[in-house]
Amino acid sequence: HEEFTKVKNIATIELGRYEIETWYFSPFPPEYNDCLKLFFCEFCLNFMKRKEQLQRHMKKCDLKHPPGDEIYRSGTLSMFEVDGKKNKVYGQNLCYLAKLFLDHKTLYYDVDLFLFYVLCECDDRGCHMVGYFSKEKHSEESYNLACILTLPPYQRKGYGKFLIAFSYELSKKEGKVGTPERPLSDLGLLSYRGYWTRVLLDILKKHKGNISIKELSDMTAIKAEDILTTLQSLELIQYRKGQHVICADPKVLDRHLKAAGRGGLDVDVSKLIWTPYK
Ligand code: COA
Ligand code: NA
Repeated sequence: HEEFTKVKNIATIELGRYEIETWYFSPFPPEYNDCLKLFFCEFCLNFMKRKEQLQRHMKKCDLKHPPGDEIYRSGTLSMFEVDGKKNKVYGQNLCYLAKLFLDHKTLYYDVDLFLFYVLCECDDRGCHMVGYFSKEKHSEESYNLACILTLPPYQRKGYGKFLIAFSYELSKKEGKVGTPERPLSDLGLLSYRGYWTRVLLDILKKHKGNISIKELSDMTAIKAEDILTTLQSLELIQYRKGQHVICADPKVLDRHLKAAGRGGLDVDVSKLIWTPYK
């Protein structure tokens, strides 16, 4: 794609109370080509060239959270589901913003086909976006996540794993297994590996007796292939008499769990109010 070879244009953005350095090129409309910095409304994600424009905008923008339905609230954390068809401009703005931190993904101009799950930290000033993931309304390949982003000021706090966990909770409600769209970035793969390892090894530790990959997949909504590659990379699979046998030595499992890092923020499923997209 042409986008890959282009040089980074926008160097910084202002979003809410943060000024953020960008990572990659994003194909903003041509009239923004001469801008080094862009000013985003943190609620509707409209972007502007000048601070004064943003200040004027903030006086009249009445959004205090992403458009769409709040489908999860626990403590100060909320998740909003935004339908790209009903909120096209918001969806496009979010894609422009996200591309600044995504290397190899092509931008979806066709936001109609996607749902956006936007994670916010809420206070008395409003709900401030922390990160999001997108999901195709209908995926032939059983993708349950297309793009995932934690905004840089919020990274390494467990939000990425929260978003990943959330995507699997939606898959469980749909009664389907899911997998993230490929390719994954290095950071994306690290986050998924950590999530898969933790979820699977927690089950293996508690479970008595043999368990199959199919059973693990049914319990977690993680696709069988992802379970297999995760357990193989940890060298927990042996192949005996034509069958996969999963190692369940508690000492080995504990060692891997320690190496997999912190658990991150848990999704409290009782706080998720959602029905699958029809
Ligand atoms: N260096 C090393 N490991 C890192 C890392 C970094 N900078 N960032 C994340 N990780 C690994 C760690 O194993 C971490 O777990 P730990 O903190 O317990 O060790 C794990 O990934 C996830 O951390 P978490 O805090 O839950 O994730 P995050 O909120 O930082 O978000 C991404 C992770 C991938 C969403 C985030 O890095 C991001 O938005 N990157 C840019 C966009 C992108 O690449 N998206 C994926 C495209 S497919
Ligand atoms: Na994508």
